[in-house]
Amino acid sequence: MRKQIVAGNWKMHKNASQTEELLNELISKIPAKTNAQVIVAPTFINLAAAANKLKNTPIGVSAQNVHQAEGGAFTGEISADMLKSVGVNTVILGHSERRAIFNETDALIANKVDTALKHEMTVIFCFGEELKDRQSDNHFNIVENQLRDGLFHISKESWSKVVLAYEPVWAIGTGETASPEQAQEMHEFIRETIRKAFGNDIADVVSILYGGSVKPENAKEIFSKPDVDGGLIGGAALKAEDFLAIVTAI
Ligand code: G3P
Repeated sequence: MRKQIVAGNWKMHKNASQTEELLNELISKIPAKTNAQVIVAPTFINLAAAANKLKNTPIGVSAQNVHQAEGGAFTGEISADMLKSVGVNTVILGHSERRAIFNETDALIANKVDTALKHEMTVIFCFGEELKDRQSDNHFNIVENQLRDGLFHISKESWSKVVLAYEPVWAIGTGETASPEQAQEMHEFIRETIRKAFGNDIADVVSILYGGSVKPENAKEIFSKPDVDGGLIGGAALKAEDFLAIVTAI
């Protein structure tokens, strides 16, 4: 049975007091037992406090980014060692917003993956096509290239620290969700691409999350698909009630 995961990517939302308020509500309302591993990814400034508050709870914490260097003259950046020093052992990499807005290339993302794995962090590796790619029926090529150029250089052993998050860019923040059938079709393709490159023992174990306008009303059907192992949630993660409804949809 693959690990089922629901992770909330808070993006650039929630200041310190709002973070504390949302975490308090999640901690108080999360069911004692969930079928999914639950993770939240607040902004950098709130990570240390969040990691401390979540320490003895069923909720994990993740960073939304990390710099590829070990340290140095990189004003404004955060290193893997700094994240680990405050108890953050997971990081989201390759998010479409990092790729599009901050010009992160596959090569840079591959470099960040190496740094995170070197520090024994779990990597939530994001990828997904743009609308123009799907409209031109090029979406499978795009997804395969992002996987190959950003992730396929890692060793077989490293895959135990990797969670995949397929996020069609056209579904992110748009309310335009991929249909459960579209999600399953791509997730199956992703799993078979991994199978060809790394074999059954990796392909059958790696968790592949879906991200892109997951809401309480559509989560159950998307998560019911055989190759969907949970979700990476944006907007709906910012309200405890909605996020927990998605968590319990698994
Ligand atoms: O990383 C998750 C995010 O990109 C999805 O955002 O608002 O469409 O759930 P949203």
